[in-house]
Amino acid sequence: MCGIIGHTGQQATQQFLIEGLKRLEYRGYDSAGVAIQNGSIHLYKKKGNIAALEGYLPEKISGNCGIAHTRWATHGKPNNENAHPHMSYSKRLVMVHNGIIENYQMIKEDLMAKGITFSSDTDSEVLLNLIDWEFSLTHDLIKAIKNALTQVEGSYAIAIIKSDEPNTIYACRNGSPLILGEKDGEYFIASDALAINAFANQIYYPEDKDLAIVHASKGISFMDENGVPKKIESEELVQTNDHAQKKDFEDFMLKEIFEQPDSLRRSFIQPSASSDIDHLVEKVKACNRIIVLGCGTSWHAGLIGKYLIEKLARIPVEVEYASEFRYRHPVIQSSDLVLSISQSGETADTLAANRLARENNAMTLGICNVKRSTLTRETDYQLYLNAGAEIGVASTKAFTSQVSILTQLALFIAKERKEELSKNTMQALEALPAKIETVLKQSEAIKQLALKYALANHFLFIGRGVNYPVALEGALKLKEISYIHAEGYPGAEMKHGPIALIDYSFPTFAIVTDDENRSKMISNIKEIQARNGKVIALIQEGDNETAQVADEVISIPNTMDELIPILSTVPLQLFSYHAAKIRGCNVDQPRNLAKSVTVE
Ligand code: M6R
Repeated sequence: MCGIIGHTGQQATQQFLIEGLKRLEYRGYDSAGVAIQNGSIHLYKKKGNIAALEGYLPEKISGNCGIAHTRWATHGKPNNENAHPHMSYSKRLVMVHNGIIENYQMIKEDLMAKGITFSSDTDSEVLLNLIDWEFSLTHDLIKAIKNALTQVEGSYAIAIIKSDEPNTIYACRNGSPLILGEKDGEYFIASDALAINAFANQIYYPEDKDLAIVHASKGISFMDENGVPKKIESEELVQTNDHAQKKDFEDFMLKEIFEQPDSLRRSFIQPSASSDIDHLVEKVKACNRIIVLGCGTSWHAGLIGKYLIEKLARIPVEVEYASEFRYRHPVIQSSDLVLSISQSGETADTLAANRLARENNAMTLGICNVKRSTLTRETDYQLYLNAGAEIGVASTKAFTSQVSILTQLALFIAKERKEELSKNTMQALEALPAKIETVLKQSEAIKQLALKYALANHFLFIGRGVNYPVALEGALKLKEISYIHAEGYPGAEMKHGPIALIDYSFPTFAIVTDDENRSKMISNIKEIQARNGKVIALIQEGDNETAQVADEVISIPNTMDELIPILSTVPLQLFSYHAAKIRGCNVDQPRNLAKSVTVE
């Protein structure tokens, strides 16, 4: 989490930093700050989002070199003192940091014993003061940075400017994302390409522990962890300017929900890629087991993938939270395919779990939205969502595209064994965008339903089979943006505990589709109603039996069983969105969250 941006070059820095911060705001928004080198360093930081910082900044800060940060708090509350950039104890260095310094307490005590004082509660200031201390010993900033970084444990992407060294930024990464870019004599560092793709046309991807020195007239140079100069080739960066546009929508989340017919179409694997897919499918078929890794919504997509791959392709699939997998000493074999799912490709736990798989010689596949993200660079094979930038913190279009890719993968693997089914399902998948349009037309009706239920403090979501992960996703969406407590459960498990919670004030969303579980779901609805609970049933068109039983109904068009999750997720997204808006929540920037979780 946290976003960092830096610029130096011929033009004024302030505009680049503010625009870059706006593009990085999805990574954290509890406080923000900028520091601009202009003979001395001018430092401004403020609790709150980028708009709050903008309101606080002077209109024009002159200077052509600076760094900026948008924060998601780890160590220390969101306040002005803990906001970045931090200034070192001697006031000669200013730094922004994304990551976590795990041994900061020990280092802090050591520095305090040397008489160094601190003005924040952050681990970042500890790293900065350590660098400054090393500088006081070596009088060489590069050596000081290297010496300090050998003493810290954890992850970092840092950028440093010096009060008496104009036009220069020092940057380094280890485990946290950092890219550099340039165009026509303007140079940038940032947490991701999105931050700079309106200004740069060349991008560099440094490796862990590389140090970059960015100079306004000399350009960008790199050295490795031993201080040996290193050449990193730049790649072309496709420039876009449409990032921050909500178009006619009130929020990014709503825009992204409504983009799903298009984003889904873009997830269809093109015939031009068929030889790559055939190669991948042959490799997957040779695996004994698939281990799917992910976090949050990506994990839910993975669970749907398990149901589909096992049902259609008959390969055993295990789905693991990346954060648990990486620390539980899992058995990983070279005959395993480890399939990591991540919208951002930067989630720290997913990256670490994927690295563990690589160390154990498993084949790795990444399903990812962000091109050239860390996950795509650290996997043997990649499948892209092509969903376009997802800015809303709540994942919506990425989820339906992830499920689409997993469905296609399952169908490709099953193709020879289930030729007819594969062909029919692919055709039905192609018809799905039009069916999503039909669901989106119900947004107003779903809003009316949300008006009725948005004041509930709790919600249960139930589903069976492939609708169980959909229930989990529905509950996650509701809780993260509306702060209504919500639980997702398999329908059958309800009797084993959660039903104790049900009363008139505890409504349930029941996902009931026309499959082998339908009659059992109807029984679940009756069990809830017998305890005075209200039930909103998500049904398929024409399911009059469930419609008569449920208190409220939302219906989705008919499609093949395997494709139901893509359709049934959309009304749940809309319900969460409307409930959150009714409750006055900021749906794009829910409290305590960040889009990309780049720390453990
Ligand atoms: O970028 P990733 O897909 O790796 O992110 C994983 C989760 O952090 C993410 O899905 C999170 O749960 C979303 N806020 C859900 O809407």
